[in-house]
Amino acid sequence: MVSKRKSLPKDRFFENIEDELALTFDDVRLRTGFSEVMPDAVDITTFFSRNVPLQIPFVSAAMDTVTEHQMAIAMAKAGGLGIIHRNLTPEMQAKEVARVKYHLNGKITEPICVNETITISELLQLKEQKGYTFHTFPVLNQKRQLVGVLTETDFDCCIDPSRLAREVMSTNLVTSHPRTTVQAAYDRMIQERKKVLPLVNKQGHLTGLYIFSDVRRIVTESSAHYNVDDNGQLRVGAAIGVNDFERVEKLLDKRVDVVVIDTAHADTKPVIDTLKQLKKRYTSLDVVVGNISEKESARRLLDAGADGIKIGQGPGSICTTRIVAGVGTPQVTAVYWCARVADEYKVPVCADGGLRNSGDIPIAIGAGAHSLMMGNMFAGTNEAPGEIVFLEGKQWKGYRGMGSEGAMQQHAASRERYRTGKSLLVPEGVEGLTPYKGPLATVISTNIGGLRIGMGYVGAATIEELRAKGNFQRITNAGINESHPHDVRIVKDAPNYKR
Ligand code: IMP
Repeated sequence: MVSKRKSLPKDRFFENIEDELALTFDDVRLRTGFSEVMPDAVDITTFFSRNVPLQIPFVSAAMDTVTEHQMAIAMAKAGGLGIIHRNLTPEMQAKEVARVKYHLNGKITEPICVNETITISELLQLKEQKGYTFHTFPVLNQKRQLVGVLTETDFDCCIDPSRLAREVMSTNLVTSHPRTTVQAAYDRMIQERKKVLPLVNKQGHLTGLYIFSDVRRIVTESSAHYNVDDNGQLRVGAAIGVNDFERVEKLLDKRVDVVVIDTAHADTKPVIDTLKQLKKRYTSLDVVVGNISEKESARRLLDAGADGIKIGQGPGSICTTRIVAGVGTPQVTAVYWCARVADEYKVPVCADGGLRNSGDIPIAIGAGAHSLMMGNMFAGTNEAPGEIVFLEGKQWKGYRGMGSEGAMQQHAASRERYRTGKSLLVPEGVEGLTPYKGPLATVISTNIGGLRIGMGYVGAATIEELRAKGNFQRITNAGINESHPHDVRIVKDAPNYKR
């Protein structure tokens, strides 16, 4: 539903320079205002796409040196989201998604059940064949009603494997109703001293299962700020390409929360057709599309049904697109105009790439972003793929563009992202090293700190308020020089500042 957008303070600033000038982070600063907002009290929850919320507005880039399952788990635990890159086969990528989803196995919504007439030896064979590593199997009768549960103890104590499941299973069950939350399940299991809690509807059919070790991990890991789905499982996204429907099937099978059509230029017919197909085939799947940097492109993607759009053509730290191809709008202007259109559709906008310091975060949100995708900021952490490299007395980790020569030579997905083939292989990125940064949690807390104090200066208590109140001033080179420390020799590095 298109709604009329209210005029905002920043509109005049951007309208006045439209057609002439495009600005990026170092060109602007946010204006401060009267503030009753305390930085530690601001609400930084937001959305990545229509139905995928974030506790913090950070998303890790779909890059092979940034986001695999370790990064995605850590991002979701920090309240953000990781997008698993697509330089992996569909099977490998789906496996990465599964590792995130099952890291905190909250409610098991489709437990593997067995019929009461199966023998223990048949079940052991099935376990072997399918590679099941768990030992808890709900047992159903012919009417598919729950009649018992086979537990590890039942297996261990069964000396005759030709016996039937119904003869061996535990029947002294405690069950609960289908809508039982993780916390309620934990309380009930403690109270009843049970390690398994099947959820059963009025007809006696099993609708889910809680296992105590999983539930305890979730409840006691002070997980209130985790980004989890309704089943208590960590949220995760995955990158896909044009017409990548087989990949999507595999990802959905592992319950991916959102897919991102991941291209260097999304305002093309194949991308828009893929988006329309996906929205037709999977009505409840959120599809984010990127990248673009023009408002007309935003409108075309939004009209085609995008649940989120991703902005950024050329700002990335490893990106050479603007130099090699001579295209791309500087990021603050790109975000502003695309977000202005997306607001009409009530669709979230993600600003992708180019963030160097925590101060760039409130600027991107002030320009209109709901979330920020970052590569370099998170590369080099413990959770990013790759080993630490020692060079010139310092520790580094590899970080490369998905359109770098190496990535393109190795992966068809990288070539497809940049619409090149083996006959025309034009790299749009570089391969490099980024300083080793330690745990992701430290990087995140530094950047969240910057965002919070920025919001305090502006007087914005929420991300929506920062988007609405953010107002800009241009800054000259002299202004940017004045902004950095000057006329001192720094003798101790600040933990949240680098030049
Ligand atoms: P960073 O946070 O500034 O390092 O930018 C990361 C973003 O750069 C990613 O999320 C991608 O959108 C983009 N990107 C990744 N690889 C390349 C490349 O090879 N060329 C251009 N852009 C890239």
